[in-house]
Amino acid sequence: MKRRIEISELRSQRWFDSPGIRSFNVRTRALQMGYSREDFEHKPVIGILNTWSDFAQCHSHFPQRVEEVKRGVWQAGGLPMELPCMSLSETMVKPTSMLYRNMLAMEVEELIWSHPVDGVVLMGGCDKTTPGLVMGAASAGVPAIYLPAGPMLSGRYKGRLLGSGSDNWKYWDEYRAGRLSQREWHDMEAALARSPGHCMTMGTASTMTSVVEALGLTLPGAASIPAADSAHARLASDCGRRIVDLVWQGTKLEDIVTRASFLNAVTVLMALGGSTNAVIHLIAMAGRLRVPLALEDFDAISRRTPVLANLRPSGKYLMEDFYYAGGLRALMRELAPMLDLSCSTVSGRPLGETLEDAEIIDRDVIRPLSDPIQAEGGIAVLKGSLAPRGAVIKQSAASPELLRHKGRAVVFTDRDDLARRVDDPELEVEPDSVLVLQNAGAVGAPGMPEWGALPIPKKLLARGVRDMVRISDSRMSGTSFGTCVLHVAPEAARGGPLGLVRDGDLIELDVPARRLELLVEPAELERRRAEWVPPKPFFTRGYGQIFMQHVLSADQGCDFDFLLAGEPTPEPKIY
Ligand code: FES
Repeated sequence: MKRRIEISELRSQRWFDSPGIRSFNVRTRALQMGYSREDFEHKPVIGILNTWSDFAQCHSHFPQRVEEVKRGVWQAGGLPMELPCMSLSETMVKPTSMLYRNMLAMEVEELIWSHPVDGVVLMGGCDKTTPGLVMGAASAGVPAIYLPAGPMLSGRYKGRLLGSGSDNWKYWDEYRAGRLSQREWHDMEAALARSPGHCMTMGTASTMTSVVEALGLTLPGAASIPAADSAHARLASDCGRRIVDLVWQGTKLEDIVTRASFLNAVTVLMALGGSTNAVIHLIAMAGRLRVPLALEDFDAISRRTPVLANLRPSGKYLMEDFYYAGGLRALMRELAPMLDLSCSTVSGRPLGETLEDAEIIDRDVIRPLSDPIQAEGGIAVLKGSLAPRGAVIKQSAASPELLRHKGRAVVFTDRDDLARRVDDPELEVEPDSVLVLQNAGAVGAPGMPEWGALPIPKKLLARGVRDMVRISDSRMSGTSFGTCVLHVAPEAARGGPLGLVRDGDLIELDVPARRLELLVEPAELERRRAEWVPPKPFFTRGYGQIFMQHVLSADQGCDFDFLLAGEPTPEPKIY
């Protein structure tokens, strides 16, 4: 353990306790807010970065949780200061919250950098808030602890469990196929989201909070606690107390997280059958900490890690069941032979020690290594002539019979084209066709929205078809299922082969061999390439233009190039 730092080493003291007029002004303004000298003198200042807003439905309990974090900070002898930041509701923010993940990360870094903050509690949960907060705090280089929002309670309708996203998509297809009445559809709307908290399937939110726990950045067990449980309120106060200790110990985020922690996180991702979005976010988070992490690491770990979590969309249950079954700690204890248990955690104890008393309560929800849901991890990385720099597929949520498939392409040049034609009765498509969506990536869409689970054409739905091979440079909601090849790199709008596919081309998908091939003669592809013109940029001004000019590709985590370069910025000068 690091030595306890001196008061004079606290970053905030340079604001509050420097000689001269600037500190006089800072103290004056703290007194103006009603704080007394005892409140701020010689105390670590803890920034509580809160992604709450009236639009952040998954974080609607955060105003109460902030008070609980503050209680913990006060108890431990710190000064808690709330810093609101971008809320990024997955549902409300259009065209896609992914457009703004990097903006949140920049905001977090700059808020920490420019304020008298010694350590931070990061409050997030709804999809992009988790990576955005962690990326920003990693670049800011201060002690940090992550407080996940916790999953909402399970949805229920007429005795059936309803899971966020997964069941929306499932019953939407039933509704489109005419097998569900309007009345039932509306009743389901009201039965799906029953409490505060993030999506309660193993979608992107649950995946990201779980992998951040596996990285060691939450208190043990934090990611599985339902938002509405009183244990979640206690967790918030624990975070407040613990961050003060981390500040006094001088333990920064980068002291906790290493390449071994990232490999642990990837192992957990695979065993959870977690969201493909985590591949992009983990690479981006690792980039901020200058830890090497590549698509190849994901595939190597996937091949040796079984899926143990029986959670939708890969399995049967929901996060509330997972919590009662023992939660992430129980799953990680089962996975222990595959994890580096010496990795640090914000609890101050090595990972292995935090798992010692974990126990699987329900072995159907969390399977033992001897009886997994699937022998291999949830995500496979593909390469080949259609994806020279890689693509991913969530094989645990795909149809097994489609994992080896050859079919003719039915191409949609963008999302508008897809919306216009996919349900056209004249569309030439068969159940064994391969649906291809172009220009849906980081630059092409832009923002890489979750369009990758292309809808099944209505005329095939009517014939009972529920899954087809679908390929795009887009992402897919972590709650979705189906045989969807995603994140094809390079993306179509940057000149990738995906943009050269034409109707009728033969495409071969071979997941066991990790191949994705466009079976078109090279000379023909060269001819098409010579004719190819990049799509007109959607944004010609503002943040959107910055995004399009600087976003890296999916295999590089979609961070901005200028945020990965350069030296750490020195502290602001206070004269
Ligand atoms: Fe917030 Fe799904 S909408 S996590």
